[in-house]
Parts: sequence; structure tokens; C-alpha cells
Amino acid sequence: MSIKKGIILAGGSGKRLHPLTLSISKQLLPIYDKPMIYYPLSTLIIAGVIDVLIICNPGEDILFRKLLGDGSQLGINITYKIQEKPEGIAQALLIGKEFIDNSSCILILGDNIFYGQRLEEKLISAGSRSGGATVFAHEVKDPERYGVVEFDSSGKAISIIEKPLNPKSNYAVTGLYFFDSNAHEIASSLTPSARGELEITDVNAEYLKMGNLQVEVLDKTSTWLDAGTHQTYHESSEFVSLLNKKNGINLACLEVEAYKKGLLDKEQLRDVTLNMGDSYYQNYLMQFLESEQVD
Ligand code: TTP
Repeated sequence: MSIKKGIILAGGSGKRLHPLTLSISKQLLPIYDKPMIYYPLSTLIIAGVIDVLIICNPGEDILFRKLLGDGSQLGINITYKIQEKPEGIAQALLIGKEFIDNSSCILILGDNIFYGQRLEEKLISAGSRSGGATVFAHEVKDPERYGVVEFDSSGKAISIIEKPLNPKSNYAVTGLYFFDSNAHEIASSLTPSARGELEITDVNAEYLKMGNLQVEVLDKTSTWLDAGTHQTYHESSEFVSLLNKKNGINLACLEVEAYKKGLLDKEQLRDVTLNMGDSYYQNYLMQFLESEQVD
């Protein structure tokens, strides 16, 4: 059975993107043709999530609600909670206590974009594990910016260190975490790091210590982008635009992903589409419906 609950952490200070993020949440900025949060939300839908908690900064929930409402147009439930201050990614597991309600959950960062032909398979398989945590690692050129995984000669993860000065590998832990019901308790036992944050790396390191952490390496057929700097923000838009132009792939089209998962039937998809403004996005959905032979 896959995990049904997912949290998108969409707060943060977004300092590296100033002045872009001085007056608006980073996760509402466009990545090519969609708001950034569409990308992690589509990843959750692909993973099988139907209950979503969006955590954002004070005053910004109204904007996310305007964009995504209660999720019913996608056949899912979306609720919102506030993180008063950006006190770390692991704090999401504390803010989300009631939402998680002692079950398993997926946590994804609001500025992370995933794409890969076999991604769905990997997500479903991670969600079907009976316990523990699963994280995804991806090879990067600048590992010192991330949590870095060290593997032994058999490929088993043996350490995870946050922003190491001397990284033991080039494999960064991406912002997508599958946790069993122990995550809240582990997060509750953490103390803030030197930079004053509850570190998600500490949660993952605890699972590793218990022998309960699975590290899935995303190979070169998968793309992972973290749109947190001007350069990677720009590259993310370029990537999504190229996928669209060259391969005809419309990444993070939420309504289509919801339809593919059976969360919307054809009639519902058609109603949602007809209720949209006349736009390129609506046209795309119309064409999709035609290809599905809806009259
Ligand atoms: P980061 O990119 O590490 O932090 P940030 O978004 O505040 O940006 P900057 O470093 O430029 O100031 O955060 C990764 C993601 O997690 C991003 O989508 C924001 C989110 N986040 C929170 O919502 N709350 C937090 O406390 C932290 C640390 C991050």
C-alpha cells in the first residue's frame, strides 16, 4: 500500500533569490509556465498521495489557498499550516503532527523538481516499504551545499552529513523523504543545529543509525533540480521549457496527473478544464481530453 499523506514545505526565507522573494513566496514564483509548488505537488500525486498539508510562512497561506484551494478540483484534500519562522526542514514533522496522526508520510521541499521516466515506479516502491525511511540521492557537482551520503564498497549508505566541508561523495540527498510513523518522535528529540535549524539530515541520520534508512540513487535518467539560486531557478525553467518544446512533455500538469491516478474521471477533468480561463494551459487540457476520446 502506498503512502497517502504528503507534506510540502513551502516556507523559508528565500534569501538567495532576493529581491525576487522579498514580497512573494519562492514557491509561488513561476517555473516556466507554472507556479513552483505545482512541481512538488505533482510528485506527491504521482507517488499516490491524496492528503496534502502545505506549510508556509505567516500571511502566505491566503495566496496558496487562492491557487490550490482545498484540492477538490484535483480529487485530493489540501490543508494548510503556518511555520512562524524558518527553523528548519525537520520542523515540518512537528508542525504536521496532527496531520500525520501516527501514520507514514512523505515530505517534499517546495522548491524541488523531479523528473524521470521510471520515477513513478521508484516512488511507489519507496511508499510500499513496510517501515523505516527512504531518501533519494542524486549526483551533483557541488555536494558541499547539501546533505551528503557516504556509501561503502557494496553501495550501502554508511553516513549522511549536512553541508560537509570535505564531502565523502558527490551524492546529495534530495528534498524528498518517505518516513514511517516514527519520524515525528525522532524530530521531537532533535536540538537545533549551529545555524539554529532542526535539520532533516539529523532525522535521516537517526534512521540510518537504527539500520532503517534506504537510500535510493536516482540515476542519470532522472533529473533533480533545486530551484533555490538564481542560476538553478533559471535552469529549472529552461529544463521544463525544453521538455515541453522538444519532447511534448507538460511537466507537473496537476489535472492530468490526478486523472492518470484515477482521482478525477473524464467528466470531472472536462468540467475542471471548462472552468478555466482561455489559456495555453486550458488548450493543452482540451487536447489531452480529445486524445482520451471524450466527447
Ligand atoms: P532552503 O532553500 O534551504 O532555504 P530557503 O528557501 O529559506 O532559501 P535561502 O537559503 O535562499 O534563504 O529551503 C529548502 C526548501 O525548504 C524551500 O522550499 C523552503 C523550505 N523551507 C521551509 O519551508 N522552512 C524552513 O525552515 C526551511 C529551512 C526551508
